[in-house]
Amino acid sequence: MEPLQGRKTSLKKNTPLLVLFITITLFLLATFPLYYPLLGYPLYLLHNHAKLSASPSSSSSYGDDYEEPLAIRPATDKCDIFSGEWVPNPQAPYYTNTTCWAIHEHQNCMKYGRPDAEFMKWRWKPDGCELPVFNPAQFLEIVRGKSMAFVGDSVSRNQMQSLICLLSRVEYPIDVSYTPDEHFKRWKYTTYNFTMATFWTPHLVKTNEADPDGPNHTGLYSLFLDQLNDDWITQIEEFDYVIISAGHWFLRPMKFYENQKLIGCHFCQIENVTDLTMYYGYRRAFRTAFRAINSLKNYKGITLLRTYAPSHFENGLWNKGGNCVRKRPFRSNETALEGANMELYMIQLEEFKIAEKLGQKRGLRFRLLDTTQAMLLRPDGHPSTYGHWPHENVTLYNDCVHWCLPGPIDTWSDFLLQMLKMEAIRSFEEKLSSFDRKMRF
Ligand SMILES: *[C@@H]1O[C@H](CO)[C@@H](O)[C@H](O)[C@H]1NC(C)=O
Ligand SMILES: *[C@@H]1O[C@H](CO)[C@@H](O)[C@H](O)[C@H]1NC(C)=O
Ligand SMILES: *[C@@H]1O[C@H](CO)[C@@H](O)[C@H](O)[C@H]1NC(C)=O
Ligand SMILES: *[C@@H]1O[C@H](CO)[C@@H](O)[C@H](O)[C@H]1NC(C)=O
Ligand SMILES: *[C@@H]1O[C@H](CO)[C@@H](O)[C@H](O)[C@H]1NC(C)=O
Ligand SMILES: *[C@@H]1O[C@H](CO)[C@@H](O)[C@H](O)[C@H]1NC(C)=O
Repeated sequence: MEPLQGRKTSLKKNTPLLVLFITITLFLLATFPLYYPLLGYPLYLLHNHAKLSASPSSSSSYGDDYEEPLAIRPATDKCDIFSGEWVPNPQAPYYTNTTCWAIHEHQNCMKYGRPDAEFMKWRWKPDGCELPVFNPAQFLEIVRGKSMAFVGDSVSRNQMQSLICLLSRVEYPIDVSYTPDEHFKRWKYTTYNFTMATFWTPHLVKTNEADPDGPNHTGLYSLFLDQLNDDWITQIEEFDYVIISAGHWFLRPMKFYENQKLIGCHFCQIENVTDLTMYYGYRRAFRTAFRAINSLKNYKGITLLRTYAPSHFENGLWNKGGNCVRKRPFRSNETALEGANMELYMIQLEEFKIAEKLGQKRGLRFRLLDTTQAMLLRPDGHPSTYGHWPHENVTLYNDCVHWCLPGPIDTWSDFLLQMLKMEAIRSFEEKLSSFDRKMRF
């Protein structure tokens, strides 16, 4: 029942056949409105769950707290779900550190005595539509038989652990990791044959630590900007979804190599080595990563760029006493994306556009999981000093980079699910429009 999926090349050769397929598809759509043949899952899953859970006679397996707010307008591809405000959500959180074992030690803020709980009780409200709160059963149904990779640093792992906790209402995964290295975890949801994996690659490209001390005592890294980190690129070909991200590690001192030659650095303090800034390295790393994805022979997955999530150190740098002590989200008119946050975000968008265009030529889909604006507004969501006991000596003593679990990062799963729901419609529309273009010649 997936006549158009992944068959572009063979269809190109045979336009009359394509017309027949479209006709049959449209006929099926009209005849069996409850089943969306291109998507492989029933259409009711695409619809707002509100109708089901609002009816008192229906008892859903995941309880009433997933009831959605009365939708003024459900999110569609015409509404930018990434632009909006945080609004109170008394029903949150949807898990705790006692119901979910997947919370990373340093993000278990309640365990380490965080006194306030307000920061867990918000949901994202896009301008002009509603973003449904994550529905674990629906998510697992959509990803049945699929696989999802999280490629990046500890914030990427933070996202996956949040997703595991949100899904724990329905099922816990089993550990199917192929290595004892905690940086490369694989989890399988057996009932749904769904696999998730993390790949540790904070710089995306090949690196080594040139000097564990370095100019700012935060390590000096050598980045080989035209060579990928094999730990992930050799592994992702089989994945259906690849969520890629990078960010905070680029703030540290770095040396940049291209063609095996030192071409410059970021704050390396080495005589006669040009400071090319971190932006140079950030752009090159993404370009190399996207190019490599686009040249993977057997890759058919959807690549999602999870955009930069700003940190919120105030009154000092991360290693100079800066901290994040706010207790409420910002409203969107109280702050703005600027400085380094803005630069890094813009570089991501630019490199994404290039990759997307390249991808289109060979039928690969690139999507933006645009978390930047929402997270900019959450200075209250970080562990701060509640990621460890007060007497513990840890590198990131005041952690204003990662996100407490439960916490605002749970919203990334709301975004993700909404994107997966829209994806089916979006790729169908893209296929129709590319068909339409062909018909005009
Ligand atoms: C969970 O958080 C509570 C405080 O809310 C804390 O007392 C408890 O130790 C934590 N449990 C685990 C397993 O982290
Ligand atoms: C599980 O999913 C994988 C793809 O991720 C597929 O190759 C395999 O056949 C599936 N197994 C079952 C039992 O459905
Ligand atoms: C290194 O430390 C200096 C002085 O504190 C600061 O101005 C600079 O931004 C730091 N650079 C990096 C890359 O951490
Ligand atoms: C840096 O460049 C200057 C001028 O070209 C040269 O005199 C000096 O020896 C160089 N220093 C190093 C460490 O290479
Ligand atoms: C931001 O908008 C809210 C609601 O529209 C308003 O009450 C508040 O005064 C505004 N704040 C600033 C700093 O403009
Ligand atoms: C914390 O640990 C670092 C390195 O392990 C050490 O250099 C430093 O002195 C320690 N600080 C305290 C207050 O124990």
